[in-house]
Amino acid sequence: MDQAKRYLLTGASSGIGAALARELAGKGYDLALAARREDHLHLLAAELKARFGRNIVVLPLDVTDYAACQDAVGLAANALGGLDGVIANAGIALTGKAGGGHFERARLTLETNLIGAIACLDAAAALFRQQGHGHLVAVASVAGKRGLPHTAAYSASKAGLISYMESTRTELLGKGIDTSLILPGFIDTPLNREMASRPFLIDVERGAALIAKHIDKRHVSAYVPGWPWAVLGRLLPLLPTSIIAKF
Ligand SMILES: NC(=O)c1ccc[n+]([C@@H]2O[C@H](COP(=O)([O-])OP(=O)(O)OC[C@H]3O[C@@H](n4cnc5c(N)ncnc54)[C@H](OP(=O)(O)O)[C@@H]3O)[C@@H](O)[C@H]2O)c1
Repeated sequence: MDQAKRYLLTGASSGIGAALARELAGKGYDLALAARREDHLHLLAAELKARFGRNIVVLPLDVTDYAACQDAVGLAANALGGLDGVIANAGIALTGKAGGGHFERARLTLETNLIGAIACLDAAAALFRQQGHGHLVAVASVAGKRGLPHTAAYSASKAGLISYMESTRTELLGKGIDTSLILPGFIDTPLNREMASRPFLIDVERGAALIAKHIDKRHVSAYVPGWPWAVLGRLLPLLPTSIIAKF
């Protein structure tokens, strides 16, 4: 029998999240779409219902409201008739050099990318432990594999998310709950359009198609795209600081 595919997806109003929603709905997933921009979510939900005939619901959510993240998991489960997975994808990339007066940007980055993601994943893990099955997915980044210049808080948020998923996986092993850690390189979205350099950039449709495939197959961990990031991601921690500083 096919696995049920009722998922909560955060960060669904733009970029990877919106493109991923299209890919997953096309694969037969029912989705609760969450983000702050409710108007974008309603437009996307209408499109997905019309194109794919899936059950798609809209959940306005600010992931820095941690109690609301807990509620969102219950609301998604009620609206979809159960919940089989959560995809913690919402994120921001506010850059700024350390000591440059950017503490507020750093705080918001950590609160959104790390604590917001954990708030959603933790609430889902509680439900999944109760029901004895589920799938936790986190969209981290290659930037979490090595601290890069001018993105200290972003790299720290993604490194924290990687560790969180690794720990969670050890706890959930053998309990019927899968975990998937997604490690994108550069995917063309509003998040990085202002960046001076975006090496090995791929378009968002291709990125989302690859991520959807990894989610559907419940891969434990995946670089996106695999080439060259699976190699570079492993190499980055080994490179001397003098080389990383030139990035
Ligand atoms: N693009 C890349 O190259 C790349 C590479 C590595 C990792 N990633 C990761 O991929 C994820 C998606 O990024 P993207 O590139 O698709 O960027 P994006 O187009 O800017 O989308 C970010 C999404 O996150 C949501 N979001 C931001 N803050 C939120 C908050 N406080 N509460 C709820 N939702 C929030 C936004 O929705 P609202 O503004 O409507 O709330 C939006 O839907 C992020 O975690 C990012 O770090 C991206």
